[in-house]
Amino acid sequence: MVFETLEWVGGVGGYLEMIDQRLLPGEFLKIRCTDVESLYDAIKTLAVRGAPAIGVAAGYGVCIAVQGLRGGDLSAALLGIEKAVEYLGCSRPTAVNLFWALDRMKAAAGRFAAENPGADLPALKEALLAEAHSICRQDKEMCKAIGRHGERFIKEGAGVLTHCNAGALATAGQGTALSPMYEAHGMGRRFCVYVDETRPLLQGARLTAWELGQAGIDATLICDNMAGVLMKQGKVGAVITGADRIAANGDTANKIGTFSLSILAKEYNIPFCIAAPSSTFDLSTASGDEIPIEERGADEVTSFGMRPTAPDGMKVYNPAFDVTDAANITAIITEKGVIEKPNADKIALHLKDVNHGQDARATSD
Ligand code: MRU
Repeated sequence: MVFETLEWVGGVGGYLEMIDQRLLPGEFLKIRCTDVESLYDAIKTLAVRGAPAIGVAAGYGVCIAVQGLRGGDLSAALLGIEKAVEYLGCSRPTAVNLFWALDRMKAAAGRFAAENPGADLPALKEALLAEAHSICRQDKEMCKAIGRHGERFIKEGAGVLTHCNAGALATAGQGTALSPMYEAHGMGRRFCVYVDETRPLLQGARLTAWELGQAGIDATLICDNMAGVLMKQGKVGAVITGADRIAANGDTANKIGTFSLSILAKEYNIPFCIAAPSSTFDLSTASGDEIPIEERGADEVTSFGMRPTAPDGMKVYNPAFDVTDAANITAIITEKGVIEKPNADKIALHLKDVNHGQDARATSD
């Protein structure tokens, strides 16, 4: 990619630098997070967003939190880490990658303390930074592998529709839903991407359109309510979106509007694919009914830029995500391959040997 969405700068005393996605496409600016509060704010206000990117950022957030800890007592440090994990976990509720990464950081701290009883705080800080780097590195690898497994869904000369932004801006690597597009483009395949603008925060128009442009991929922006017409006209060969959380049975939470797209795709017999790393699966959630859906402020719906677009005091319902039933999903593309017509058994089998914690230890040694 020609840009790094987020990057740790320096050693244990370093900081997290991230593209401020609130400003794109007008301005390309980076922000530095040097304290946990500013990172919490960056996640909450969508300066950094997209499930995998939130997870990677949160991992580094724990490294920032321990920077302020003093003294040699590791059990006090573990309590401090627990507090930071709890705090960062309140920033956004739906993307499970946030909790996955925080759990991993907490487990790494506990494991380090148990295995190194005489160790001091600086050594714990080093171990946590190694874990956060490992989460980041694995995210990049998973993105690339998703692209390799998913490029076959993009046919020569076809149109592919995507919703929100599940590209490089939403991950540490080359994205999830956009990764197959980058792979197909790299192989010289010609296709065009229809980009849903993605009301109300316009992640499609502001972010996906921008990043596909950076890569030189042919893209056409549409309003969300135009997807059905395009499908009816035969212009969409596949729909590929990302995911914020995939339940054990395959029900998938993603940006609001994804569910309606899945119904349209079913009507027109168009493959509807979800691209997501194994860190986006939540096997402790049996079905989509149990996935917590973030509701955001009314102002996101009642204004455009700084201008009001609705009467003062208008009642608003603004869920940021919806759940697509597994039955509507043609395939889930992960770093391990493709789950066709997903269901609980196929998902359990597909993920049976995934153990990021152990991989992390093996690769960071
Ligand atoms: O509210 P956002 O911008 O964080 O929502 C992002 C999405 O819904 C993405 O599709 C999802 O997180 C997958 S990102 C690879």
